[in-house]
Order: sequence, then C-alpha cells, then structure tokens
Amino acid sequence: MKTIHVTTTVNGDTVEYLCDPRETMLDVLRDRLNLTGAKEGCGTGDCGACSVTVDDRLVCSCLMLGVEAEGKTITTVEGIADGENLHPLQKKFIEYAALQCGICTPGILVAAKSLLEKNPDPTESEVRYWLAGNLCRCTGYDKIIRAVMDTAADMREAS
Ligand code: FES
Ligand code: FES
Repeated sequence: MKTIHVTTTVNGDTVEYLCDPRETMLDVLRDRLNLTGAKEGCGTGDCGACSVTVDDRLVCSCLMLGVEAEGKTITTVEGIADGENLHPLQKKFIEYAALQCGICTPGILVAAKSLLEKNPDPTESEVRYWLAGNLCRCTGYDKIIRAVMDTAADMREAS
C-alpha cells in the first residue's frame, strides 16, 4: 500500500514519517517514533490509555489516523517533563503512589495536565468528570484524584 509522508511536531520537535493511510496515531507514536508512553488498552476510544494532546485538545490517539497529524502539535507523556525535571503531576503521582501496573498512568497524566491548563482550580467533581474517560483497573481512583487535586493546589500556590 502507498505510504503517506507526514510532517508534524511531537513534544516540541519537528518529526517526519511515512505511514499507511489507515495507521492510527497510536501505532505511529509507538512503532515509528518509538514513543511507547501512550498505551493501547482497548483500541476503541474507551479506556484513555492512549491519550495525547493535539493542538492542546485531549485526544485518544487510537481514534486518530497518523496522517491527520500533518501540521499539528502533539504532546505525549514523554513531553510533559522539563528535561530531567518531572512535571508536578508526575512527582505527585509518585508521592501518592497513584499507580500500580502503570498502563493507565501516561494517559491520566496527559489528561490531568490538560485539565489543569484549562482549569487550575478544579473541584473534585470536575477532576472526576474530566478523568472519567481514563479507566484504571488497579488503584480504585482515589489516590489519582487526590494526587491531581494536590498538584493543582501546589501549582496555584507556586504561581
Ligand atoms: S487505547 Fe485508545 S482509548 Fe483505549
Ligand atoms: S495502575 Fe493499572 S490500570 Fe491504572
């Protein structure tokens, strides 16, 4: 099958790749760009493990085609730390032990960061609703929600 040439920005870097027109963005990230943070939990838009942002919109990369990334700006979990310095959400998830197997964690971190950029002072209900599309089969969610709320409080205090 004919492959398509795509130029896009991923985690601040301009990248180019060739992909099959039917290939998902998730497969492009994992198999062509070696960015394996985004996970495939379902492949049908139901679990959020593959979450990335595209031009600042939260997207399930399993529901997006790799060719649709042309000219876009994509951020994956690999792009949310500042070099060696983890993002406050990442530090707080470690502090709260808000993960077990870790399959859901990259998607939840990307989704939570997206929430805090839009709403730095979310209520618990708002956090729960925002993360409702990110399923976790291990933690029971409580530590995740508390980690996000506490990060938001810390970031407000620091700003
Ligand atoms: S793998 Fe994309 S939503 Fe589950
Ligand atoms: S930590 Fe295992 S699915 Fe969330």
